[in-house]
Amino acid sequence: MNFSVAIDGPAGAGKSTIAKLLSKRFNLMYINTGAMYRTIALKAIKKQIKPEEIEKLCLLTDSLEMHFNDDRLIVNNEDVTDFINDPFISQNVSQYAAIPEIRERLVKLQQQMSNKYNVVMDGRDIGTVVLKNAAFKFFLTAAPEERAKRRYDELVAKGLEVNYDSILSDIIKRDYVDSHREASPLVKAEDAIEVDSSYLSIDQVVDKMTDYIVNTMNSISK
Ligand code: DC
Repeated sequence: MNFSVAIDGPAGAGKSTIAKLLSKRFNLMYINTGAMYRTIALKAIKKQIKPEEIEKLCLLTDSLEMHFNDDRLIVNNEDVTDFINDPFISQNVSQYAAIPEIRERLVKLQQQMSNKYNVVMDGRDIGTVVLKNAAFKFFLTAAPEERAKRRYDELVAKGLEVNYDSILSDIIKRDYVDSHREASPLVKAEDAIEVDSSYLSIDQVVDKMTDYIVNTMNSISK
């Protein structure tokens, strides 16, 4: 079995930033599963397929070849990374991510990736569904206001015109949908280590996780 690290948590907790840094430290492939759900939302919206049109969505999902190149997501030879983080996609993605038939397909793809490579994978159901046997599982949280502030700063830095209150209400709404849906809701895996990043810098979080991984591996090899 390959080595894998699972990071779950709510929107804006810093999962992708942290996962990217951990991937460099431990030479792992970074798999951003949220980007895969965002891609389905992007393509469905472009083709005007609504979340209730399950059959069309399944056909659409099956027609997409996805792979990661560094931290870029390539879909049918097109780099979609810059399009999927648009606030409009953020507002609509939860409805598509709640569909069991889509989840089943993307989970299968994610598991195939983890069978091929050593990975750090972030999402909502990685420790509970996708990589139940991951060597390390973390559940990364932060207060909603702090997460909204981070997302606001990130989008402003990209030159987008955004409103803090609407980002906060979007995050609260998304937390609710992600943790109350029937199919693989966002919950902490029993064996995951919880890290609250509200008052920690990115480097402090990465150091904390790195120490945990290294200490555990050292104690196993003794
Ligand atoms: O992490 P993110 O904001 O890019 O995720 C986008 C959406 O996809 C969000 O609504 C949660 C959902 N998601 C999911 O249901 N399962 C995952 N493994 C990853 C993301």
